[in-house]
Amino acid sequence: MLGLGTLARVAGEVRRDVAAARERDPAARGVGPGEILATWPGIHALLSHRMAHALQQAGVPLLPRSLSMASRTLTGIEIHPAAQIGRGLFIDHGSGVVIGETATIGDDVTLYQGVTLGGTGFATGKRHPTVQDNVTIGSGAKLLGPITVGHGAKIGANTVVITDVPPHSTVVGNPGHPVRIEGRRPEGPDADWIHLPDPIAEAIQGLAGRIGELERAVARLSGEEPEQVAEVKPLRPAKGRNPAGG
Ligand SMILES: CC(C)(COP(=O)(O)OP(=O)(O)OC[C@H]1O[C@@H](n2cnc3c(N)ncnc32)[C@H](O)[C@@H]1OP(=O)(O)O)[C@@H](O)C(=O)NCCC(=O)NCCS
Repeated sequence: MLGLGTLARVAGEVRRDVAAARERDPAARGVGPGEILATWPGIHALLSHRMAHALQQAGVPLLPRSLSMASRTLTGIEIHPAAQIGRGLFIDHGSGVVIGETATIGDDVTLYQGVTLGGTGFATGKRHPTVQDNVTIGSGAKLLGPITVGHGAKIGANTVVITDVPPHSTVVGNPGHPVRIEGRRPEGPDADWIHLPDPIAEAIQGLAGRIGELERAVARLSGEEPEQVAEVKPLRPAKGRNPAGG
């Protein structure tokens, strides 16, 4: 049932959300809790979700979804009333954030704009990510399926994550892959996701080599020097940082 205890719990959760915004948003420096409560869209979305979730748990029909829809219209943040959200979530800027029905978010998580915690298709049951405590998810990142993002992980902006993320790691790219675990680069033969073999370029290079040999053979037979031999130049260095960012 929805009682005073539930209202007190929701008020406590919202107080902690406002504190999280003050701690983690550089733009909130010197801004009072009242102003944050009144003007931060991430806080409005969470206030609405905390109420919608409590109503949903109390078995109230229609109202939870209506609250969620109204909040989405106002903030651009869509949170399913059934999503389980821990304490101290901070949603920066907000617009374009989607948190699915079976998503679970731990304590002190930070989400930037455009983050999706979504499903991969039409599966039913648990189909959205579980995000553990102290995780940061960069803007535009898509986390899809019933994966687990371990404690303290960081997901880079625009990353697409479809597999579990180890705790205390940094994951970037599409598909998302760890570039740091416990602050160190991952080691091992499969660690280099940037300089992957390119079979098409290798095939063209092989053909170009054979054409070059033919040009030289024709030049020898005709007694002329070949003007230019076919050559393939690498588009990016085989080692070092990929300018495309991985
Ligand atoms: C991933 C992130 C959290 C940095 O984490 P970190 O652990 O400090 O990692 P680093 O900065 O040391 O970067 C690790 C590697 O990932 C690369 N990288 C970082 N962010 C990346 C991204 N979004 N996409 C692709 N590669 C990225 C870095 O170039 C570096 O590459 P290297 O191993 O070749 O040196 C940060 O880059 C990021 O994307 N933050 C999101 C911020 C955001 O969304 N802001 C919106 C504000 S409105």
